[in-house]
Amino acid sequence: MSGVVRLSIIDPNEATRNELKNMLIGVDMVWLEAECSRYEFFTEVVSQTKPDIALISLDANPEMALNLIAHVTRDLPSCNVIVVSSSQEGSLILKAMRNGAKEFLGFPLVLEDFLSALNRIQITSGKSEGEHNAPRSSQVITVAGVSGGVGCTSLAINLACCLASHDHNSVAVIDLDLALGDTDVWLDIIPDYTIQDVAENISRLDYSLLKRSLTKHACGAFLLPRPVQMDMSMQITTEVLRRIIALLRATFTHLVIDVSKSYNSLDLAAMELSDTVLLTAQLDLPCLRNVVRLSQFFDTNDHIAEKIKVVMNRLGLEDTQISVSKALETIGREIFCQIPNDYATMVESRNNGIPLVMQAPKAKLTRTIMGLAASVSGESASEQEDSVSRKKKSLFGFLNNSK
Ligand SMILES: Nc1ncnc2c1ncn2[C@@H]1O[C@H](COP(=O)(O)OP(=O)(O)O)[C@@H](O)[C@H]1O
Ligand SMILES: [Mg+2]
Repeated sequence: MSGVVRLSIIDPNEATRNELKNMLIGVDMVWLEAECSRYEFFTEVVSQTKPDIALISLDANPEMALNLIAHVTRDLPSCNVIVVSSSQEGSLILKAMRNGAKEFLGFPLVLEDFLSALNRIQITSGKSEGEHNAPRSSQVITVAGVSGGVGCTSLAINLACCLASHDHNSVAVIDLDLALGDTDVWLDIIPDYTIQDVAENISRLDYSLLKRSLTKHACGAFLLPRPVQMDMSMQITTEVLRRIIALLRATFTHLVIDVSKSYNSLDLAAMELSDTVLLTAQLDLPCLRNVVRLSQFFDTNDHIAEKIKVVMNRLGLEDTQISVSKALETIGREIFCQIPNDYATMVESRNNGIPLVMQAPKAKLTRTIMGLAASVSGESASEQEDSVSRKKKSLFGFLNNSK
C-alpha cells in the first residue's frame, strides 16, 4: 500500500467532526495529525503540525472558514486543503477554490469521494525527495480473451506480478471469472475472503476491511479471488463492482482484472472502467474471427472501443498456420504485443504457484511480459528490470506471506 497521508481537521461542530473522524480512522493510509474545534486556532495548528492535508468543514461558519482556507494556503503552500460542506452552492465552491482549496466534497462525506480526492491531489511534499507518500493515480487493466484457454489468466497474473515487482507500484488482481476463475491456483493462495464477501459488505466497507479482504502474494501483488462456492443466486451488480473498483483504485496504483469469456454485464462494466483492455488471442482461425467479431461489438461502445489493444499469445506454437502479416490483414488492426510460446515455463510457473517474474525472470516469455507491463504503465522496460533486480535482493522476504 502507499504511504501515510498526514491530515489535520477543523470542524467546530462536535457531532459532524466526530462523524468525519470516524470515517477517516477507517482509512489506514490517513494519519490524523490534529483536530481542532475553533477556526481561529487552526492556522496555528497547521503551522505547527504541517499536515499534508487540511480538512476544513465550512458549515459552522462559511465566512470564517473561507478566510481560513486563504490563510492556510498562504502560510503553508505544501498543505492541500480539502473542503467539506453540506452546501453545494456554486458561489461557495467557487470562493473556496479561489481561496486555494484543492477539493470540495459534500457532507456527509462518502469514503470513495474522499479517497478519489486524495488520489487526485497526489501529494509528494513533506518527505524525502523522490519518495511516493500518497496514492498516485491508478491504472486499471482488464485482460479479456477471444476464446477459451488463450492465456488470459496466465497474462493477467504475470502482468500483475511484473507490475508489482516495481518498487513504486502497488497492484491488485480481481478475478471476475465468477464461475471458473483460477487466479488463486496461479498464485498458490488459499484466500480468507473473496469478491463475494466484499460485495456483501459493500455498504459498510471501509478501507481496512477492504484491505483485509485481499490476500497478498509474496511477490507483492494482492488478490481478490472469485467466490469459493459456485452459487448461481449470488449477484454482484455492476453498481457494486463500480464501488469495489473505485475503492481499490484509490488504494492501488494498478488493478488487473481477469474477466470471464461470457462478455456479461460485469465483464463489460470492468472494461468500461478500465484504462486499457488487453484482448488476448492466438494465431488461429477461430481466434482471428472472434477478434473481428468482438471489434465490431466494441465499436458500438465508446467507453470500450478506444481502450482495446490486441495481444497475440503463444507465437511460434508449432501447428499455427497463420502468419502475423496474414493475421494483421484479417483483423485489420494493430497487434500491441506478441508473447512467445513457452509451455514448459508457463505450466511450471502455474503448477508451482510461482509467477514468472520469480520463477523464470530471465526467460524470453517473462521479459516480454515485463515489456508489456512497461508499455501499459508508461514506463521503460529497463526501469522495470532494474526494479526486479533490486527486489531480488530481498527474495527471502517472499517466505513471509503476511499482509
Ligand atoms: N505464452 C504461452 N506459452 C505457452 N503456454 C501458454 C502461454 N500462455 C498461456 N499458456 C497456457 O495456456 C493454457 C491456458 O491458459 P489460461 O491462462 O488458463 O487461459 P484462459 O484464462 O484464457 O482460459 C495454460 O495451460 C497456460 O499455461
Ligand atoms: Mg482463465
